[in-house]
Formats: sequence, structure tokens, C-alpha cells
Amino acid sequence: MELAEAAIIAASGFWLALPAMLPNSAAVLTGGGKPVDFGRSWKGRRLLGDGKTWRGFLGGAGAGILLGLVMLGVSSLAGWADNSGYGPTGQALGVIVLLAVGSLLGDMFGSFVKRRLNVPRGAKMPILDQYDFLIGAFVLVAIAYPSWFFTSYIEGWNILALIFLLAITPLLHRGMNILGYRMGKKDVPW
Ligand code: CTP
Ligand code: MG
Repeated sequence: MELAEAAIIAASGFWLALPAMLPNSAAVLTGGGKPVDFGRSWKGRRLLGDGKTWRGFLGGAGAGILLGLVMLGVSSLAGWADNSGYGPTGQALGVIVLLAVGSLLGDMFGSFVKRRLNVPRGAKMPILDQYDFLIGAFVLVAIAYPSWFFTSYIEGWNILALIFLLAITPLLHRGMNILGYRMGKKDVPW
């Protein structure tokens, strides 16, 4: 294993995960309006809270799916035809949709857990805040397309792609939140 090979594995694993990475930031830009839980509470605490809105969910998922489609276009234009890294077209579309939707479901599950633990909307919860979306995306994809997930992120040296993603995700999450805060789109820089 040479450094260049490791870099290619890490970079392509990162590329393939982009439809799961974008939705959170896109949700910050598109969010607002009706909360997903419609304001409902359970045992005196909000189900999800005002930070999870329908607009954010749809805008985030739409952005992630659109990005995935653009990536498929780029890979076919670049002549990586049939080799986008997502497999045959049907599977490619399925993986992209599940990465985008799964990341927002994971993010909502994170908020559900925070509310159960009495952590208010927007308050920091390390680990959970940084990984909920990636875990949601990968769990869904691993269930629906186990062999794609295994060959892309687990098998042999491809595990490096997963390790790289786990290492870089908290940094990206922090960076994007600072950006959102400076743009006035987020009340807190985390
Ligand atoms: N957002 C949204 N809908 C979603 C996800 C995010 O509208 N499904 C928007 C909200 O404006 C939210 C912001 O993106 O405040 C940042 O998302 P996040 O940090 O996940 O939410 P928090 O406000 O921190 O709420 P929580 O404590 O529930 O994570
Ligand atoms: Mg937050």
C-alpha cells in the first residue's frame, strides 16, 4: 500500500459520501416554517424540536440528491462511464437517495435523542451532533445495498475511506457551522 493509493481510496470514499455531507448545510439554508414534529411533545418534551423543519428536510434532501445526479453526470462526462463508484444506474440512484435522505433522518434521530435527554434545541451534544447524519446515511445504505457499502467502505484497504471520513467529518461539521454562523444563518457557531 503506497501513500498515493491510500490517498485515492480516501478521496474517492469522500467523493462518494458527498450526497450525505451536503444535506445538513443545505437544510440550514432552506430551513424554517413548520417543524417536522408539528410542535408535538412526548412526556413533556418536544419530539424533535423547532430545529427540524419540513423545508429543511426537503431542501436538504433535494440538494443532496441533486448533487449526486451532478456527480453521476460528471463521472460519465469524465469517461468513468458505468464506473461512477455507485454501480449500475438503478443502484446508483438508490444509493444517492438513501445517502441524502438517510443523513437527514440520522440528524432527526439525533435531535430525538437530544430531546429525550433534555438537551434543548441548538445546544451542543458532542459526537452525536457530528456523526448522527453520517451514521444515518450509512446505516440506511448498508441495509439496502450491503455489498456496495462493504466493497466501498469496509473491504480490504477501503476501510481507510471510512476512517478518513470519520476523521474529517467533525472538522467539516465545525467549519460549515462557523460559516453558517458568520452568514447569519445559525445562532451558534456549532
Ligand atoms: N434545519 C431544518 N430542518 C432540518 C435540519 C436542519 O430546518 N431537518 C435547520 C434549522 O434551522 C436548524 C439548523 O438547520 O436550526 C441547524 O441544524 P442543527 O444544528 O441540526 O439543528 P439545531 O437547531 O442545533 O437543533 P438540535 O438541537 O435539534 O440539533
Ligand atoms: Mg445544532
